[in-house]
Amino acid sequence: MKIELISAVTVIVLLATLHSMAQKSLGEATKGEFLFGVAVNMNQVKGINPIETELISKEFSAIVPENCMKPQPIHPKKNRYYWKDADKLVTFGEKNNQAITGHCLIWHSQIGKWFFIDADGKDVSPEELKERMRQHISKVVGRYKGRIKGWDVVNEAFEDDGSYRKSKFYQILGKDFIKYAFQFAHEADPNAELYYNDYNVETPSKCDAIVELVKDLRTAGCRIDAVGSQSHMHMNLPTLDSTEASFKKLRDAGIHILITEWDISILPSPYEGANVSANFNYSKEMDPYRDGVPDVIQQKWNKRILDMFGLFLKYRDVVDRVTVWGLTDNSTWLNNFPIHGRKDYPMLFDRNNQRKPVVDEMIKLAEKFK
Ligand code: G3I
Repeated sequence: MKIELISAVTVIVLLATLHSMAQKSLGEATKGEFLFGVAVNMNQVKGINPIETELISKEFSAIVPENCMKPQPIHPKKNRYYWKDADKLVTFGEKNNQAITGHCLIWHSQIGKWFFIDADGKDVSPEELKERMRQHISKVVGRYKGRIKGWDVVNEAFEDDGSYRKSKFYQILGKDFIKYAFQFAHEADPNAELYYNDYNVETPSKCDAIVELVKDLRTAGCRIDAVGSQSHMHMNLPTLDSTEASFKKLRDAGIHILITEWDISILPSPYEGANVSANFNYSKEMDPYRDGVPDVIQQKWNKRILDMFGLFLKYRDVVDRVTVWGLTDNSTWLNNFPIHGRKDYPMLFDRNNQRKPVVDEMIKLAEKFK
């Protein structure tokens, strides 16, 4: 009896191994079309949850740090840098032979207040801010020179109406802070790709402003390789048409596209987008799926994922990378943004670290475009 049991278990393990080997990864399935990446947190990089770490290593051809390379975490004080996490992440990506994106050099959020104030607590001069930007960028980009495929040089510099966000960078330096950032990044690593990154790029007025920015940067002799469209989506917005219209506009302007932070929330949204300065209070009606997702909603979400993924594939001549902003429904930022303590289901892997069925449909779709 015992021998029969052992051989049955052996067979099951063997079948499971063969099945997982037969399962193509997203990175493999999209090879030759675009990179398929994931935003990773430090628990995953450190192997604190080995299943997630293994999934990230096997499923994706690119990674981006969710937080550890942002201005505040990596440069918390004027004369202090914190390299440990970023060093670990870069080594992790290299070990897995994954393209690594640096995120992000200049952003109005997650940046130390020291960046903008002098010893008396007053706004620094334009010259001083420019010098602080140069030091930050040359230190961070320089440290990983030749190891990072590309950098989100400036993140979220526009409002949805196409006007400049009145960040401290803009208030002190005007719109030229963007040009300076790209110049400093290029000086620090001439071979690195450089990107401008933003959310709601599907909004025509914002897309127009971004196209103009790219044209201005190119006229000024700056390197800019692509625009990152964060693609934080909801069940109804952005529409497929508005997304395609933005792709057409960018492609017609000779601009490559990165889908940099893709997720599709199934929860009711107090607003559409990912403006991190928004916030809202918890209520049960805004958190309707704590006990699971009704099949009709799941099917709608699956269709939304496949429709958008099909569009990315349709524009694979200019879409160079698709990155999901997190691995599982358990670790997504959306469980706590814009409303704290909800249960969202925006990712390709569920709370048990299992691939959702839609991933196999995505892989079949990618194969069709080969
Ligand atoms: O690391 C600290 C920890 O030491 C502290 O105990 C804890 C409690 O305060 O906070 C931890 O920092 C948090 C950080 O995530 C790391 O977990 C910050 O509070 C929290 O604000 C931060 O949230 C990140 C958010 O950007 C910040 O705006 C999210 O994880 C991250 O997914 C999100 O990502 C941004 C992109 O970078 C840019 N596009 C929008 C996107 C969503 O906001």
